[in-house]
Amino acid sequence: MATKVTKLAVLTSGGDSPGMNAAIRAVVRTGIYHGLEVYGVMRGYNGMIEDDIFKMESRSVANIIQRGGTILKCARSKEFREYAGREIAYQNLKKRGINGLVVIGGDGSFKGAQIFSNEFDIPCIGLPGTIDKDIAGTDFTIGFDTAVNTAVEAIDKIRDTADAHDRLFVVEVMGRDAGYIALHSGIATGAENILIPETKTDIEELVNSLSEKEKRRKLVNLVVVAEGDEFGGGNEIARIVKRRLPNIDTRVCILGHIQRGGSPSCLDRLIASRMGYHAVESLIQGRFNVMVGIVNNKMYYTPLDHAIKAKQKMSNQWLKIVKILAS
Ligand code: F6P
Repeated sequence: MATKVTKLAVLTSGGDSPGMNAAIRAVVRTGIYHGLEVYGVMRGYNGMIEDDIFKMESRSVANIIQRGGTILKCARSKEFREYAGREIAYQNLKKRGINGLVVIGGDGSFKGAQIFSNEFDIPCIGLPGTIDKDIAGTDFTIGFDTAVNTAVEAIDKIRDTADAHDRLFVVEVMGRDAGYIALHSGIATGAENILIPETKTDIEELVNSLSEKEKRRKLVNLVVVAEGDEFGGGNEIARIVKRRLPNIDTRVCILGHIQRGGSPSCLDRLIASRMGYHAVESLIQGRFNVMVGIVNNKMYYTPLDHAIKAKQKMSNQWLKIVKILAS
């Protein structure tokens, strides 16, 4: 049975996402509001192992709500995958009397938190911080909205130049194994084709649809591809299109890490603040080893092991809309 949380540590882990700073701010200030001592851990689980842990005050999080990245820095820790690493991490928390941990990150980070919490008596709570939106138990993940808006802004610009030259652009967006950034940005920019890992990519269908458009002189086309698509992303799709349809002037643009940076959108700041606040409230109430999410505008708590295993389901309605609107 875990003891009452009196000293709390917060870390950001995995790939950074816009809004992580807003979440840190909410955790620190809610903790202090409740009279807890709050500590920041640098570079995710690595900082716990390397003892890079410092006490945070309300002022430590001043002027960060609008900043992308994370003031605590991010890392994917190899050492934390080993028991020996986790034991050192535990000792470093223990010597300060830290008895609660908030982990802001994706499913890999939650896996670490789950194992750590099972092995040692440290209640953990997860906040979904990832641009990929690939976590079950929440309608939002911190960073997705900003990333998808960055992608939309970039694709709109690409459409301008595509239009000027009558070109086909294949645009690759991030998302790891998930197609949410591609789906949302593709619909929002009026892409003609959207290729995502959640559905089977029919290359013949893509070639036929582009060839049909070529015949009717619809020369400006955008194909948005998720990096995790089974055909291997933008370069591969463009290579196939160029080979099969040599008369179409085709270019590729890989948006890459610009999708991870930048000032968080209003939505990301709001959900990060709300989730950060509820993470601390939840720990204080003795509810832990869960991920804090928002479902239907209500706080929703998913056991960490479920959040790790279950991927978010893609709605069939979205997929239908893509087909109809892309004709
Ligand atoms: O998980 C977030 C993410 O940005 C993915 O969309 C992408 O596949 C990956 O991280 C990139 O990781 P890295 O920054 O280590 O190259």
